[in-house]
Amino acid sequence: MNKMAIYPGTFDPFTNGHLDIVLRSVRLFDHLIIAVTTNAKKTPLFSVPERKELIRKSLPEGGNITVESFDGLLVDYAEKRGSIIVIRGLRAVSDFEYEMQMALLNRRLKPAVETIFKMSSEEYSFLTSSAVKEIALLGGSVDGLVPSAVKAALAEKFKKHQ
Ligand code: PNS
Repeated sequence: MNKMAIYPGTFDPFTNGHLDIVLRSVRLFDHLIIAVTTNAKKTPLFSVPERKELIRKSLPEGGNITVESFDGLLVDYAEKRGSIIVIRGLRAVSDFEYEMQMALLNRRLKPAVETIFKMSSEEYSFLTSSAVKEIALLGGSVDGLVPSAVKAALAEKFKKHQ
């Protein structure tokens, strides 16, 4: 059977923590879809096409990973794409409550959809997209926190502030 999983998120922007989850998840499936949501509650720094492009540039060549975007409910998108597996990263206990609520609500909406949690590697357990944006905005170094394409895009976005 062809096993496919979806790794959904806002990815504003994609970090090395996201990349770590992607690279460790893709080994478990025949195909991984990284799905960028279009309906972020907060105003994103990067547009959906920008976020997709930055993710594509951050992935290794070839491979069984595609980058897509979706709007509406994740479970509807998962069903439409023929995947019943959703991957989410867990960094610390603080993530747990929100992630459990989301996984259980998604299960209530579509019982077939299974959420699988991957523990972050410890070197990324403190890393969030929001922190990366704040560091970049305030002129700090994001080396080692984000892929090089994202670092360059952040520098470009915040050029006028520096
Ligand atoms: O990277 P994020 O912001 O933690 O990702 C959250 C995301 C995009 C996975 C979540 O907000 C989502 O699934 N949004 C789509 C709308 C939806 O299905 N909402 C109901 C969730 S219970």
